[in-house]
Amino acid sequence: MAHAPIGIIMNGATGRMGYRQHLVRSILAIRDQGGVRLSDGSLVQVEPLLVGRTESKLAELAAKHGIEHYTTDLDAALADPRWQIYGDFLVTKARVAAIEKAIAAGKAIYTEKPTAETFEDALELARKADAAGIKHGVVHDKLYLPGLLKLKRLIDSGFFGRILSVRGEFGYWVFEGDWAPAQRPSWNYRKEDGGGIVVDMFAHWSYVLENLFGRVESVYSRAVTHIPERTDEAGAAYPATADDAAYAVFELEGGVIAQLNSSWTVRVNRKELVEFQVDGTHGSAVVGLFGAKIQPRNATPRPTWNPDLPETHDYAGDWLEVPDAETPENGFKRQWEQFIRHVVEDAPHPYDFYAGARGVLLAEKGLESSESARRVDLPLVGRDNG
Ligand SMILES: NC(=O)c1ccc[n+]([C@@H]2O[C@H](COP(=O)([O-])OP(=O)(O)OC[C@H]3O[C@@H](n4cnc5c(N)ncnc54)[C@H](O)[C@@H]3O)[C@@H](O)[C@H]2O)c1
Repeated sequence: MAHAPIGIIMNGATGRMGYRQHLVRSILAIRDQGGVRLSDGSLVQVEPLLVGRTESKLAELAAKHGIEHYTTDLDAALADPRWQIYGDFLVTKARVAAIEKAIAAGKAIYTEKPTAETFEDALELARKADAAGIKHGVVHDKLYLPGLLKLKRLIDSGFFGRILSVRGEFGYWVFEGDWAPAQRPSWNYRKEDGGGIVVDMFAHWSYVLENLFGRVESVYSRAVTHIPERTDEAGAAYPATADDAAYAVFELEGGVIAQLNSSWTVRVNRKELVEFQVDGTHGSAVVGLFGAKIQPRNATPRPTWNPDLPETHDYAGDWLEVPDAETPENGFKRQWEQFIRHVVEDAPHPYDFYAGARGVLLAEKGLESSESARRVDLPLVGRDNG
């Protein structure tokens, strides 16, 4: 069966995420492969419309990638029935206003995280989107990292027995921008512009933890700004008002304790930029973006603490590498395919605006915990419990 191409408004296509991950690695990659494969084996092709504020930039991108449509007029794009999906990759601050317009226009919506700057706004978006009867989705790209897919298979196979704890290290050194240019946009370090590592990363930790280990029931976090001044894209010094590191403990439904460090002020001494160790009664695993290694309980060494003897045992050598079971595919592309199937043939898609709101809530409660030096409980948030 032949399908009409599905039109996708790509707002913020010139940005870092919008261009590289959503346009090039997802929508153009889908276009190049002939479309998204549906359950009956047929393909639905994608047709992007680039939206942004600077016409010349859009024209340049369109020409470079053979894209027919671009505009600086979001309202006109939303009013045009050719475009069924609205994709939002704007800076966080600009998101709610744009998504509200897309809801009013009746578009299906797929967005970057965080879905809003406050939980109240994020929940309101979910409710408004439901009331308008539109389909809505939010990124959950980390779940498709090859390392996390391996972890999911280990969990599903029962490898861990009862999972006790998760400890995760995410981060790398982001240059201050003075003698070496920063490798992230400067708004990331300004609270007033929607920046901060808690707002950025807890939105990811929320869906990663709830989909792999259990709902987050409470959070204790300490968020800090280690580097108080940075230099922006124009070479001007600015005060860094947002947190650049967060040290947090999450208690999950079922009793798993997850302890995750998120930092833009850490030098990498691990194999990958993110690494999680999961310990269970029957085995443990260490997974990164790509790799995963395991140690079952019956191959666990018996360390004894002796400060008088130099260490001779190679603990790292005890672990077994988990082989790749599938060809890694870009996570952004996979989630776009999943959302397009949701729009076209109603395939399941649990990563909706409520999941987005839970991510925003986790960030908000993480910051509240840090400010109040208390552990903070999280309420249930979903379509059925507000
Ligand atoms: N999923 C992930 O792993 C991930 C990683 C990084 C960032 N993000 C999220 O992606 C979003 C974009 O981040 P980025 O790093 O690509 O930022 P960026 O600054 O590179 O791009 C932002 C885009 O928004 C546009 N923009 C800026 N201000 C605007 C305004 N006032 N009105 C309309 N458009 C405006 C810019 O022109 C640009 O196209 C953020 O919400 C961020 O939290 C997600």
